[in-house]
Amino acid sequence: MNSSFSDKALSGRKALVFAASQGLGKASAEMLASMGAEVVIMARSAVHLQQAAQDIQAQTGRPVQVECVDMLDTVALNAMLMRHQDSDILVTNCGGPPVAPFVELPIAAWDEAYQMIVRPVVLACQTLVPAMAQRGWGRVVMITSSTVVDPLRHFALSNALRKSLLGLAESLAQEYAARGVTANLVCPGLTRTARMESLVATTAARTGKDEAAVLKEMLAGIPAKRMAEPQEIAAAVAFLCSEAASFVQAQTLVVDGGGKVG
Ligand SMILES: NC(=O)c1ccc[n+]([C@@H]2O[C@H](COP(=O)([O-])OP(=O)(O)OC[C@H]3O[C@@H](n4cnc5c(N)ncnc54)[C@H](OP(=O)(O)O)[C@@H]3O)[C@@H](O)[C@H]2O)c1
Repeated sequence: MNSSFSDKALSGRKALVFAASQGLGKASAEMLASMGAEVVIMARSAVHLQQAAQDIQAQTGRPVQVECVDMLDTVALNAMLMRHQDSDILVTNCGGPPVAPFVELPIAAWDEAYQMIVRPVVLACQTLVPAMAQRGWGRVVMITSSTVVDPLRHFALSNALRKSLLGLAESLAQEYAARGVTANLVCPGLTRTARMESLVATTAARTGKDEAAVLKEMLAGIPAKRMAEPQEIAAAVAFLCSEAASFVQAQTLVVDGGGKVG
């Protein structure tokens, strides 16, 4: 059995990483590549994808394949999934849903959030997991949010819909654990990415506070008194993709600097 974080731990494995041109997806793809996986990164912006692939190659020396796909486009998503049905590892991730008081979220916002947070994951699992099971080895890691265990005010879309992915992981574990496939969630807290910057800006605009004050308040609620770096989330993803996590099923690995404790 390979140990988890060596540069060969995932050699011979192919990993498909969703929403990976920047932020948590990109950091996860880079960590998996550094462990020897053949990595495919997907997002909408060709320019950002090419830059991310160059960065990952420069850091890891591993070739990276890019897929310029909007995960809301079912036809394009399905075609991409068929091209990568030989993936051993699936890391799902997505753009963040709007953050607003409940009454400001019309039903259309719920439909759109479902299309982004849940539907692509189900489609990907339907295409890739049976093939993983047939080969007797597979890893599904869903990047979600600490809201799965620790709901946040004005995050109703995230609080409600991301929990359904835990139900999906539990269902996959019931059916596929005996055939070598694991399915788990990584649940990040506040992490230094573009999404985090936009959350701070949105909250500042809503409350009339300046962005520095908003960030200070957010950090004050975290026992670690800082936000995570994307690599700290990627390390949790990498663990769940590793051989060492072979008996871990349907868990929520929360990486939030102790949020629940605070
Ligand atoms: N950062 C945090 O503090 C934090 C905390 C908890 C949870 N999260 C959640 O974790 C996820 C990733 O966060 P992040 O901070 O890494 O966000 P980010 O920096 O904004 O990156 C989002 C990624 O998603 C891709 N993407 C967005 N819409 C897409 C679509 N329709 N099809 C394909 N790719 C798409 C983007 O690329 P393109 O624009 O090129 O498509 C980009 O690569 C989000 O769901 C976020 O809510 C983040």
